[in-house]
Amino acid sequence: MSEDHNLITADIAATEFADESAPIDVPRAVDEVVVLDYGGQYSQLIARRVRECGVFSELLPHHVGAEEVARRKPKGLILSGGPASVYDAKAPKLERELLELGIPVLGICYGMQLLALELGGRVEGAEVGEYGRSQLTVTEEGALFAGLPHEQPCWMSHRDTVYEAPPGFTALASSTQSPVAAFESAAQGVYGIQFHPEVVHTPYGQEVLGHFLRDVCGCDMTWSAASIVEEQIERIRAQVGDAKVICGLSGGVDSSVAALLVHRAIGDQLTCVFVDHGMMRKNEGEQVVATFRDHFHVPLVAVDAEDRFLDKLAGVSEPERKRKIIGAEFIRVFEEEAAKLSDAKYLVQGTLYSDVIESGGGTGASTIKSHHNVGGLPDDIEFELVEPLRALFKDEVRAVGAELGLPERLVWRQPFPGPGLAIRVVGGEATKARLDLLRDADAVLQDEIRKAGLYRDLWQSFCVLPDVRTVGVQGDERTYGYVVVIRAVTSDDAMTADWARLPYDLLEQIASRMINELRDVNRVVLDITSKPPGTIEWE
Ligand code: XMP
Repeated sequence: MSEDHNLITADIAATEFADESAPIDVPRAVDEVVVLDYGGQYSQLIARRVRECGVFSELLPHHVGAEEVARRKPKGLILSGGPASVYDAKAPKLERELLELGIPVLGICYGMQLLALELGGRVEGAEVGEYGRSQLTVTEEGALFAGLPHEQPCWMSHRDTVYEAPPGFTALASSTQSPVAAFESAAQGVYGIQFHPEVVHTPYGQEVLGHFLRDVCGCDMTWSAASIVEEQIERIRAQVGDAKVICGLSGGVDSSVAALLVHRAIGDQLTCVFVDHGMMRKNEGEQVVATFRDHFHVPLVAVDAEDRFLDKLAGVSEPERKRKIIGAEFIRVFEEEAAKLSDAKYLVQGTLYSDVIESGGGTGASTIKSHHNVGGLPDDIEFELVEPLRALFKDEVRAVGAELGLPERLVWRQPFPGPGLAIRVVGGEATKARLDLLRDADAVLQDEIRKAGLYRDLWQSFCVLPDVRTVGVQGDERTYGYVVVIRAVTSDDAMTADWARLPYDLLEQIASRMINELRDVNRVVLDITSKPPGTIEWE
């Protein structure tokens, strides 16, 4: 069995993926290679690695069918790994037509086993699985291993094993537990590797992928952030024509990059709406306005709605109620502004490729993330959507942002929750005074983290202000002041997180500045809870 650990999706055959929107017919100027997903833990990573080689790549569920693959006119096809055994009754099968598209096919792990089985090789469940680091011995370089070391480490995760390559194929390599760890038939345009080239533990993996893309598929390796910009600009123009477009700007990297791209494409047909709900961090609202209106000359409506939100939040201390109130009020303010721009037909959304994949990719993830929609817009809003980031991963969005000249501060901004500081004033009401205190404490923290060069290494770093006062002594006087909590975490995706081991000297500097500069603070503590069992936010 080809096991990919931690895979939640049990029934991948039933998984539905949202289709890439793109009804707009702008041909891609760059070569594309499709990755078909058989449920492997690393499938997304394969698409990312292909893109890192300079070839555009999309991940599609395996059941989309050969016709859909052909419609995209890819230069090659990659079949991913997956958790099933090729002998399971319910295991996804290989659609024969995929091999008749006239493009090279590379099977990885489960993908290789499917190819072996379909084309007459011998695949069997082994007594001993091969998980983790293994040693690859290349016996024939073929196209995939040309010029690479004949002994190299690689990363494996499988139990089903290919014992004999199909007739007409050349076995290229073996490994500790795999008699045939790679094979090829240049005549049939079919290639297979048992190991995972996409993970960092396979040091020559990127070269192997590169050989497939360049030497086998004949791809031009020209895809880049710059090419995304040009292509998206054309797509946006083709989609909206001369219609008016509206964009809700939050100051986060996704909406900022989406707004700038659309502005590049259609100029002043775009109006951005920035709702300052009073729960932003220090100077954040001013920075958004300065960047978009003053620097990029994007038509911007900045709504100072602080009082409205504070009024609604008066007397509310329960976290979910805070979220609901802020979410509902946000929609109300946005709709009011949108109504003033009555001729707007399109709405820009910063949907990312990971959202597209996740929206159909299993229930666990979407339940946990459902609260992220708070502060978003309702489904029934009457606009057509422009989603220029729909094909991009987060790091590519940052690259596009940098390409468009977005300031480093916005390109690398840490995630910030829609309800903002209101859910960090915990155990009590989010009053103006408490929000201001938290804002000042947070500004000290951010300043020191940036000065220490750690801002980008942290997933998030912020302060929490509990409704607690403690006794202290300052200048021979007894004080009764607030406690500020420092929360800093590392994470890849916010699903799990670890508390960041900030240097003691830095912590001391932060604590001492907070207590000296903020009159009402007399104690600073550090949150050392990981997620799970904690969450990143306190509310
Ligand atoms: P938790 O606290 O659930 O947070 O570990 C995971 C990630 O989600 C962010 N978060 C939110 N984002 N609206 C948002 O837009 C919210 O209500 C919300 N609550 C948490 C949090 O900052 C972290 O990045």
